[in-house]
Amino acid sequence: MSDRVGVIMNGVTGRMGYRQHLVRSVLAIRAQGGVTLSDGSRVQVEPILVGRRDAAVREIAERHDIQRWTTDLDTALADPSAQVYFDAQLTSARGAAVAAAIRAGKHVYAEKPVTSTAAEAVELATMAKSAGVKHGVVHDKLFLPGLIKLRRLVDGGFFGRILSVRGEFGYWVFEGDRQPSQRPSWNYRLADGGGITLDMFCHWSYVLENLIGRVRAVTAKAVTHIPDRWDERGERYATTADDAAYAIFELDDDVIAQINSSWCVRVDRDELVEFQVDGTEGSAVAGLRSCRVQHRSMTPKPVWNPDVPTAEEFRKQWAPVPDNDEFDNGFKVQWEQFVRHVLGDSPHEYDFFAGARGIALAECGLRSSAEGRRIEVPEIAP
Ligand SMILES: NC(=O)c1ccc[n+]([C@@H]2O[C@H](COP(=O)([O-])OP(=O)(O)OC[C@H]3O[C@@H](n4cnc5c(N)ncnc54)[C@H](O)[C@@H]3O)[C@@H](O)[C@H]2O)c1
Repeated sequence: MSDRVGVIMNGVTGRMGYRQHLVRSVLAIRAQGGVTLSDGSRVQVEPILVGRRDAAVREIAERHDIQRWTTDLDTALADPSAQVYFDAQLTSARGAAVAAAIRAGKHVYAEKPVTSTAAEAVELATMAKSAGVKHGVVHDKLFLPGLIKLRRLVDGGFFGRILSVRGEFGYWVFEGDRQPSQRPSWNYRLADGGGITLDMFCHWSYVLENLIGRVRAVTAKAVTHIPDRWDERGERYATTADDAAYAIFELDDDVIAQINSSWCVRVDRDELVEFQVDGTEGSAVAGLRSCRVQHRSMTPKPVWNPDVPTAEEFRKQWAPVPDNDEFDNGFKVQWEQFVRHVLGDSPHEYDFFAGARGIALAECGLRSSAEGRRIEVPEIAP
């Protein structure tokens, strides 16, 4: 087995591609001496950057001492030392590039959503399967310390029978006129693969599936609250994509999950995302980093009486779940897992079929919203 894995990285001038995937994952792995395999040996990763703008890619390559970079995807794909193609371009650009990588015999790893439609993602998954290349999609939320702690509680049977999940995700995304927006403008254009439903339901699909149960049906309302925004050049544009989605998901074993996703909400929470899970034996509230619990035997007995001020301090009636661990960057952990998978060292369940299930959930949510009815989610599996 070679002691090096060449990794073509496309989209590294973008927010996710640069910060999370290049700097905090691949370069951090390179700096630590590579990925450790199950037999204790190490395999080094070698990034090969691809991007549309010569100056931008060159600048990143020079800043980080990366020898190989190009503006031509085909040149990168023709390089036999590159076993993996990674894509963090904007969603609408991904499908064609990933298909070309599969045709070139590369293993493929991609940001979510893999593509803009579930049908296209299934097509890529099937193509990868018959080409015999490995395929993986980013599942970063599962690696958040708060959700790792939540998984511990689920695995330990803390909840008894899980009844429901309530999730709140969101924050105020500036319109871009008086203050610059903190998200790219393509997020608000449907034609460019934008929209919070497509963005976030992909996450909710694998979070629910891996922690609680598969989503079987959805009832959702997706809306565009803010009709005009200002782009990166300060120019006003009409938004065409949804910026908030209010959803009810029906999961296996009659568990109900309600999740609000919004870029038009001001935060009165401890974290930008929080999930409350209620079960017969206990409840938990998990965020990005923290998780707190209340067991059945410790549950207070509030009595509804609007005539007197609330005496109980409800937020103080929860106990924190300890870290008991050091949590590495979730994107980096996934990169290490995928490289091990490529080398035949471990399985990787977060494949393009899982990615397609996420997109299918978003499509069902958007259909539910448009048609004003509950939609059953189709079964997608290898
Ligand atoms: N896992 C997560 O939590 C998470 C979070 C945010 C975004 N994402 C996903 O990552 C991907 C990139 O998102 P981002 O926020 O980094 O976007 P971004 O706009 O910051 O970056 C987009 C990248 O795509 C490239 N690109 C290629 N063709 C383009 C075109 N025609 N127009 C504009 N850019 C083009 C850009 O050069 C840039 O490198 C998206 O698919 C998005 O859904 C995932």
